[in-house]
Amino acid sequence: MNITCEALVGDNILDVAMANNIDLQHNCGGVCACSTCHVIVTKGMTSLSDQQDDEADQLDEAEGLTLDSRLGCQAVLTEDVDIVVQIPQMNPEIAHLFHEGAH
Ligand code: FES
Repeated sequence: MNITCEALVGDNILDVAMANNIDLQHNCGGVCACSTCHVIVTKGMTSLSDQQDDEADQLDEAEGLTLDSRLGCQAVLTEDVDIVVQIPQMNPEIAHLFHEGAH
């Protein structure tokens, strides 16, 4: 199942998920103190904010960590481009598409 969402520069992936009723867990409330908002970015990684050390530390705890993993609450959209992410905590076949830019 793919879901296309609108987002704006400055939004983080968790914000976009929550605004669109997508079940992206966020046990710590989005303060980089858990790894439940783990997402895998399959397109647009360079259009997200740089990963900081505290995010990398939390990501080490994430199940199914990949080189394209980010924490949804820490990955901020920095450009008006398409971003595609997968939420591994859900069915791995489910990918969510976030389309950057307002209509
Ligand atoms: S919600 Fe806990 S690190 Fe993102």
